[in-house]
Amino acid sequence: MPTRRKFLQQTAAAAALSAGLSTAARKAHAAVATIVKPIPASGQTVPVIGLGTNRYAVGDPADNARLTETVATFVDNGGTVIDTAPMYRSSETILGRITAELGIRNELFLATKADRDVGDGGRERLANSFQQLQADTLDLVQSHNLRGVDSMLPVLREHKQDGRIRYIGITTSRVAQFPEFIDVMETEELDFIQVNYSLADREAEKRILPLAADKGMAVLVNLPLGRGRLFKTVGEQPVPNWAQEFDCDSWAQFFLKYVVSHPAVTCAIPGMTKARHAADNLGAARGRLPDAAQRRRQETWFASL
Ligand SMILES: NC(=O)c1ccc[n+]([C@@H]2O[C@H](COP(=O)([O-])OP(=O)(O)OC[C@H]3O[C@@H](n4cnc5c(N)ncnc54)[C@H](OP(=O)(O)O)[C@@H]3O)[C@@H](O)[C@H]2O)c1
Repeated sequence: MPTRRKFLQQTAAAAALSAGLSTAARKAHAAVATIVKPIPASGQTVPVIGLGTNRYAVGDPADNARLTETVATFVDNGGTVIDTAPMYRSSETILGRITAELGIRNELFLATKADRDVGDGGRERLANSFQQLQADTLDLVQSHNLRGVDSMLPVLREHKQDGRIRYIGITTSRVAQFPEFIDVMETEELDFIQVNYSLADREAEKRILPLAADKGMAVLVNLPLGRGRLFKTVGEQPVPNWAQEFDCDSWAQFFLKYVVSHPAVTCAIPGMTKARHAADNLGAARGRLPDAAQRRRQETWFASL
């Protein structure tokens, strides 16, 4: 079985080297400098940049190597939080294989989702997630877009009681669902919420992020790059010089640092299927984050595009 280190050595061209540092040097760098935030329910800390895997699918054999290299690079750069779902085609199965192959399960904070009513096979689907991910315990299971939330939250709590799930939560990625989402936040005891938020999509700032902070809920942010559209908005222009004040070397870091510098946000989970994107994005978990005034400057500048 190749370990992560061996895997990176074997694929010497790995984007791991793209940062110009050796694997050992990057690991040491990541270990000392990765920005983490606490999960309010426990005080456990997680790095502010995670990995979204809704595009983890294998069409031809080369995809396997590319996705393995992406996860290896993510972990080697200090990442731990990985988000998946049974709805993301073979994402859970692929992650189960990769984590077993690289021997990294114990280094990860693994999050998946529950998306069926109990009456519609919700329990069986959850059992399947443990199996696909090759995991005895999961760090976080979230009600996916509130599907089956009323019947599945009690099931998730049972699993939490039994020590098989550490945290429970809910997700959305649509502003139209926010009123219903807020109702659940107000009435249920949750460790985590997951919501869409980016420089181009700031609705969550109005009620959801403050409510999460008030209620002591950790926040994962999905679509932090607007499904990749933010790169199109900025086009070919260079990152503004003033972004050096908060250590941004790339557009991805500019967008991600904006998201994770919101005080209520715990961790952003950009989707990445390429090792060079993992190396780039983990750079947003290092150096300085923008302060309140610098965030305003990012907003004004982005709105002017
Ligand atoms: N309702 C829900 O629960 C819900 C809904 C949507 C998403 N999610 C979660 O949130 C995650 C993120 O959403 P998403 O992946 O759709 O959108 P996203 O994170 O906003 O954007 C992902 C896109 O950005 C590209 N990208 C990533 N890093 C880059 C970089 N450094 N430079 C240039 N391009 C870069 C990716 O390309 P590559 O793939 O080529 O690396 C991909 O095309 C999902 O994977 C999923 O886990 C949850």
